[in-house]
Amino acid sequence: MTEPHTGTEGKLTHTGTDGGLPPTGKIAYGGDYNPEQWPEPVRDEDHRLFTRAGIDTLTVGVFAWSLTQPAEDTHDFTVLDGVLDRAAAEGRRVCLATGTAAVPPWLAKRYPEVNRTDFEGRRHRYGQRHHFCPSSPAYRRLATDLAARLAERYARHPALLAWHINNEYGGACYCDLCAEAFRDWLRDRYAGLDALNDAWCTTFWSHRYTDFGEIEPPSALTEHWRGPDHTAFQGTTLDYFRFTTDALLGCFLAEKEAIRAHDPDTPVTTNFMGMFRPLDYHRWAPHLDFVSWDSYPPLDAPPTWPALAHDLMRGLKDGAPFWLMEQTPSTTACRDVNPLRRPGELRLATFQAIAHGADAALYFQLRAARGACEKYHGAVIGHAGRDDTRVFREVAGLGRELELLGDASLGARTPARTALLFDWDSWWALEISDGPSRLVRYQDTVHTYYRAAREAGADVDVVPQTADLSPYDVVLAPVLHMIKGDLADRLEGVAARGGTVLATFLSGRVDEHDRAFLTDVPGPLAPLMGIRVDEWDARPQDVVQPVRLEESAYQARLVFEIVQPRGAEPVATYGADFYAGTPAVTRHRHGEGEAWYVATALDQPGVDEVVRRVLARHDLLGPYAGRPGLETATRVTPDGTRLFFLLNHAPEAAHLTVHATATDLLTGKRAEQGEPLTVDPLGTAILRIP
Ligand code: GLA
Ligand code: ZN
Repeated sequence: MTEPHTGTEGKLTHTGTDGGLPPTGKIAYGGDYNPEQWPEPVRDEDHRLFTRAGIDTLTVGVFAWSLTQPAEDTHDFTVLDGVLDRAAAEGRRVCLATGTAAVPPWLAKRYPEVNRTDFEGRRHRYGQRHHFCPSSPAYRRLATDLAARLAERYARHPALLAWHINNEYGGACYCDLCAEAFRDWLRDRYAGLDALNDAWCTTFWSHRYTDFGEIEPPSALTEHWRGPDHTAFQGTTLDYFRFTTDALLGCFLAEKEAIRAHDPDTPVTTNFMGMFRPLDYHRWAPHLDFVSWDSYPPLDAPPTWPALAHDLMRGLKDGAPFWLMEQTPSTTACRDVNPLRRPGELRLATFQAIAHGADAALYFQLRAARGACEKYHGAVIGHAGRDDTRVFREVAGLGRELELLGDASLGARTPARTALLFDWDSWWALEISDGPSRLVRYQDTVHTYYRAAREAGADVDVVPQTADLSPYDVVLAPVLHMIKGDLADRLEGVAARGGTVLATFLSGRVDEHDRAFLTDVPGPLAPLMGIRVDEWDARPQDVVQPVRLEESAYQARLVFEIVQPRGAEPVATYGADFYAGTPAVTRHRHGEGEAWYVATALDQPGVDEVVRRVLARHDLLGPYAGRPGLETATRVTPDGTRLFFLLNHAPEAAHLTVHATATDLLTGKRAEQGEPLTVDPLGTAILRIP
């Protein structure tokens, strides 16, 4: 073993960056690097290839625990020392993982409590990763001890750029330790059992608790049937989601504290997963110095799907840039089929991330694993170690462009005037609800509204329902099932000062404990919306309800709320059934502004039309709105320069007319307002508008 590093030469101090971002000077470029998995000579080759590809940032040690601590009383940092020293010698920086996401076999054997108990009540045995019980004292002690040792050893290492705690936190445990921790969490949350019984509506089905010890985690053995979304007591299940969020956050915080004891200022993150239902990232965000996330969009996703996730991640820390911690350079391995990213798609996805606020573009992974379940996962360098593959060439080409871009986009923020409220509580409450419909999916509905706004050319901030709404002209609240705190008042404030608020079917239904409001639907939103809903009809996917909006016809599905205007005017009406002719979309004037209510799951063209009308009222339609496949996004740098991104997702060139005199940062070419501009198929232009 070598001695800890004490030198300070070469170590940049952490100053002047936005939201606690690591100081990089350019978009950090690189990714997960696990040289401990291959022999020494290969590592020399790695660095030669990294230089060729413009790679400057290595995420190291994510799964190194069994190597760095082969037994409880034995630590060996030889390999990590070598990796960090070599990185420093090569002028590269390291995002150092604490490596606590996969526990070593000896640990699980000696302390079986660290193995999770699943939803069915089965205590797992050692295997896989992301498998630790968040309430296990043994896990907590050993994970924080490891984090502390790493921080003590590497805090002043010249290669250290950021801390990466654990990996993709997620999953729940239902063991006895977690049951006890859940009861403690409930004791903290509720003043006493009366408050808890009231919140959970336990008089229903004779559930009144007389002792906290009687409370069980909601699982297949207790309140659930047909899986995690079918619960007899929504209030209990919601609180278990919240508890799980906090329990895993507790693990993160304990490691962060251990790091901070030795390293007061290197930025700390953990890699999120975008729209990941199990964890309420809004509860986590204040505790991260900067947000980072792993983007693996579903295969059939339109470009607005990863864009929504990027904007959600940017919204976690009030608009501060984030790191794209992982994406595949070519293909995943975990799916039934794993298509390749076509030529140009990686570059476009990367510039899309940057357009939405990424200040780093990192891959999983830099070199392909030799064995186990990810050996076919795409990598910058394949098993043969070649630098003449298509993927390597594309990665290297992007590396050159990011070098060219330098610091031009670092720290830039999105000047959005449209907000979309995203709320994990609403997501959970909607999807664990019995009735009206299991077919309404939160992400799908949110995405429909987000997509409509984005394709109309509006920048959108995806924000928590507690966000300051004063910067926004338009606030979209699709399926905002749960209304908490003073939100209804704040939305009224948006409309009162001239803004527009849009809510939909199944918005405003329940309070923070999933209890119905003892008032007209949509609860606290009813006065603002100027409507009342007494009945709703939920139908299978194949039942289509025609909706007429002036001269146009759209289709609606899944849920049809029957709206009685109470001051609102109809904008669109249902075309069939006994409620034919009643409003499907309404608009209510409130103060200087408006409140729109969409009472059914309108198809995308219908939502596009509604959202465009809302945006048009505030002059928020983009200069290239309505061009299929052409995405635009704006970022404003700390010195006030506007960067206008044009991302062409279409397989054909986009022929445009420049809307403002600008210089394309990627080509260096200047274009005058009114001149023609062509964006290649899958191409990107970054127009700097002075
Ligand atoms: C996740 C993990 C990585 C790797 C990739 C594969 O994002 O963080 O360790 O497993 O998936 O896609
Ligand atoms: Zn547990």
